[in-house]
Amino acid sequence: MTLDFRVEPLRRTDLRRCAELERVLFAGDDPWSESAFAGELDWGHYYLGAHTGELLIGYAGLSMAGAPGDMEASVHTLGVDPVWQGRGVGRALLRALLDRADQARAQVFLEVRTDNAAAIGLYAAHGFATIGLRRRYYQPSGADAYTMSRPARVEETT
Ligand SMILES: CC(C)(COP(=O)(O)OP(=O)(O)OC[C@H]1O[C@@H](n2cnc3c(N)ncnc32)[C@H](O)[C@@H]1OP(=O)(O)O)[C@@H](O)C(=O)NCCC(=O)NCCS
Repeated sequence: MTLDFRVEPLRRTDLRRCAELERVLFAGDDPWSESAFAGELDWGHYYLGAHTGELLIGYAGLSMAGAPGDMEASVHTLGVDPVWQGRGVGRALLRALLDRADQARAQVFLEVRTDNAAAIGLYAAHGFATIGLRRRYYQPSGADAYTMSRPARVEETT
């Protein structure tokens, strides 16, 4: 059955729920607190939430840096409530982040656990390639991360 959800800017009132989801999704990897999310918004990073009705079921965040024409973006986080995974929410959130990066023609970087097949599959399907390995990147688990990158979207001239 199709899931009815909407993607829109994350609100301060969503942050408690984000922290709750983090504790489930990233239990062994230093999950972010509500105040950590607030700090992300304070920095002006681009954060989105996915809601079904009033319930927040996913969230995602992107930072951008650099001068116009030479921008880099970084996916800071992406998570979907396990109850609602596998129904297109993660894809919709990632696409919305990438739309933003493409508007700025920014190359996009991210780190992902080397054992996270679902996320790696999602990123690969959206043009990301593995460009490096960061050993013991995640703490306290000590899990390794791949660095993945997606080229900047270049406007076609023909
Ligand atoms: C990764 C995550 C965000 C995907 O969200 P989701 O809503 O379940 O994903 P979607 O239903 O939108 O699936 C999109 C694509 O992801 C990939 N994918 C999703 N689940 C997968 C799985 N279990 N195994 C392999 N690929 C998977 C597929 O490419 C899929 O496309 P397809 O349906 O055409 O095959 C979600 O699994 C999650 O929150 N995981 C825990 C947190 C996390 O690891 N975040 C990423 C940190 S870098």
